[in-house]
Amino acid sequence: MRKITLCFLAFILIALPGFADEGMWIPMLLKKYNIEDMQKAGFKLTAEDIYDINQASLKDAVVGLGREGSPFQHFCTGEIVSDEGLMITNHHCAFGMIQAHSSLEHNYLRDGFWANSKKEELTNPGTTASILVRMEDVTEKINAALNSNMSEEERAKKIKEVSRKLEAEAVKGTNLQANIKPYFNGNQYFMSVFKIYRDVRLVGAPNSAIGKFGGDTDNWTWPRHTGDFSVLRIYAGPDNEPAAVSPNNVPYKPAKFFKVSARGVKEGDFTMVFGYPGTTNEYLTSYAIDQIASVEDPHKIKIRTAKLDVINAAMESDELLRIKYAAKAANVANAWKKWQGEIKGLERFSTADNKRILERNFNQWAQANGKTEYIGLVDRYKNLYDARQEYILAAAYATEAGLRGAEVIELARNIKQILEVYDQANDKEIFKQRVKEYIQSFYKDYDVATDERILVEMLKLYNNEDLDNQWIPEVVRLSPKYAKGNAYERYAADLFKKSIFAHEDRLLAFVNNLNDKTIKKIEKDPIYMMMEGIQNLFMEKIRPELGRIEREINSLNRLWMAGLMEMQPDKIFYPDANSTLRIAYGKVAGYKALDAVYYTPYTTLKGIMEKDNPNIYDYDVPQKLRELYKNRDFGPYTQDGEVPVCFIATNHTTGGNSGSPVLDAEGNLIGLNFDRAWEGVMSDMQYSPEICRNIAVDIRYVLFIIDKYAGAKHLIEEMEIIH
Ligand code: ARG
Ligand code: ASP
Repeated sequence: MRKITLCFLAFILIALPGFADEGMWIPMLLKKYNIEDMQKAGFKLTAEDIYDINQASLKDAVVGLGREGSPFQHFCTGEIVSDEGLMITNHHCAFGMIQAHSSLEHNYLRDGFWANSKKEELTNPGTTASILVRMEDVTEKINAALNSNMSEEERAKKIKEVSRKLEAEAVKGTNLQANIKPYFNGNQYFMSVFKIYRDVRLVGAPNSAIGKFGGDTDNWTWPRHTGDFSVLRIYAGPDNEPAAVSPNNVPYKPAKFFKVSARGVKEGDFTMVFGYPGTTNEYLTSYAIDQIASVEDPHKIKIRTAKLDVINAAMESDELLRIKYAAKAANVANAWKKWQGEIKGLERFSTADNKRILERNFNQWAQANGKTEYIGLVDRYKNLYDARQEYILAAAYATEAGLRGAEVIELARNIKQILEVYDQANDKEIFKQRVKEYIQSFYKDYDVATDERILVEMLKLYNNEDLDNQWIPEVVRLSPKYAKGNAYERYAADLFKKSIFAHEDRLLAFVNNLNDKTIKKIEKDPIYMMMEGIQNLFMEKIRPELGRIEREINSLNRLWMAGLMEMQPDKIFYPDANSTLRIAYGKVAGYKALDAVYYTPYTTLKGIMEKDNPNIYDYDVPQKLRELYKNRDFGPYTQDGEVPVCFIATNHTTGGNSGSPVLDAEGNLIGLNFDRAWEGVMSDMQYSPEICRNIAVDIRYVLFIIDKYAGAKHLIEEMEIIH
């Protein structure tokens, strides 16, 4: 039975020109590849309405959120909704900002934050807002500098060199920034040119009981009731151009902003998501899938489970610890849960088996057509993945359990890096001041006792039997003196007692007394030594070899991708996500999740009340919301008498798409993307139109909360809302 289905699947994989709903498409190529299909699916506008370099188009209202230093690695997407640079994104995207502005006195996580006027909006130095100016296909220019005799390393170096040159040329004499990235595993290259704004302010956010309703319990699942939105504003210099954070800046006047539609959509209606998906791996081979599902993900899950057990217990025990660890816990838990769904999905859809069939067909095709460059290609993967296994495991422990395990280790690593430039600092006093500020900001969200417990768990895992001895750094192994009873607890306690990194006062005193002589003392610190031990093993024994293997895999991937495209000349391929602007389109749709379980595509406020439980932190509905519900005080934000909260659609999305505008057939804003449904989170490696769903918060719930719950009517008035 299974064999037959698999063969049938393979047939579809090869015969059909792409799947409906699947794909993250390049805006500048919509006209060529997608617009007809989109219009057939109900889209009412033209390709130029979405992307045009001569006049304002929807792309001008889509914002890639990044950080100073890595502005092209967008962690989320936002959309502009007023002519004064008002921008909406997810609550979880602004979570770090909200958390950073929070204290016991001003607990914006617990209570929400709403600026009553522009003066009260809060700055977030380091956050960047990129707006795409134009894109360009530079494949030919890059290829012209390459030849087939180059080694992978030479090739990579050349690509970098040519890219930097083309980027510089493209923006010469402007305040724009250009960035070239590979597409289709390095078979094509596109340049994105951005205008990057650097003053992004927090305007409003609901309290976590709304913005994070359901918390990590509901994360990655449907049905969902999270009001996952926050409101920001982009500021520009008086000339409307990018400027560093300054009180002289003024609200940015965008070329385009989204109109908001309070009309809603129903099952079957066209929707699209316009944003910055981060990373997908749709064209991996069966070897990669097997390794991810059976080795990589399970180990990372195990390590994070141990970490989360400690953090969650701490957060449950104390309100201040809840604030301190809120953002950290969310970060650790997010990928941890996703990996678990991913493994399930890959198994359920027999992804590796499907890939094996595709690989077999590929081999046959290559042989039948005398494609010598592709014959035997698939087999070459096997040895590489066999070799990779040991290193990827060692790397998982060195990073997840080691360098990013207990936070003191990370602190020691950062301090080490900072001290490396001590010599070059002109003004030592200013230098010391900066280091002290960093330490204080670290300690603001740090709890020594919690971290010590994390270290205990990490040491235990590191020393477990899964890992070959050579991958366990000397400093992580137990010395015989701890041989009996609670050995790891005693070891960690000793380290924490002796290390200056576990004592803010001692660390600050060390910085105060910093000079050419005292700086050396830090090398004897036991946590510093532990960090060095892990780092050295990682940098000297793990990373170089892993890097070498992965470079070889990448070069095969380039060939594999080219071969797949050659074998299926009628199929329209989309490139894997790479943090560049993309369009995904599909329709609002429920799905059959499990045997006898069908989920409809909308949730409502009623469902929030059904989940209400004051004893469960994640489901404790705010009193004000209960009252609005009881009085049915919904304003104009209803559908069939209820306030819609979230909806799902078949749009193909991934991490980075959070906050992306979800648009209707006319390009109006109907929701904000923020998650995916559990049964389909393997969509980064295999998309299935039956089961993969993106989750959006309905814009009417956003408006309802801003208007009725927060009373921030001035923001409602700032937007252009179609009723
Ligand atoms: N799962 C969504 C995404 O990947 C939402 C994450 C919000 N964070 C959380 N820990 N609940 O970003
Ligand atoms: N929640 C993700 C984000 O933050 C979106 C996803 O992975 O579906 O971008």
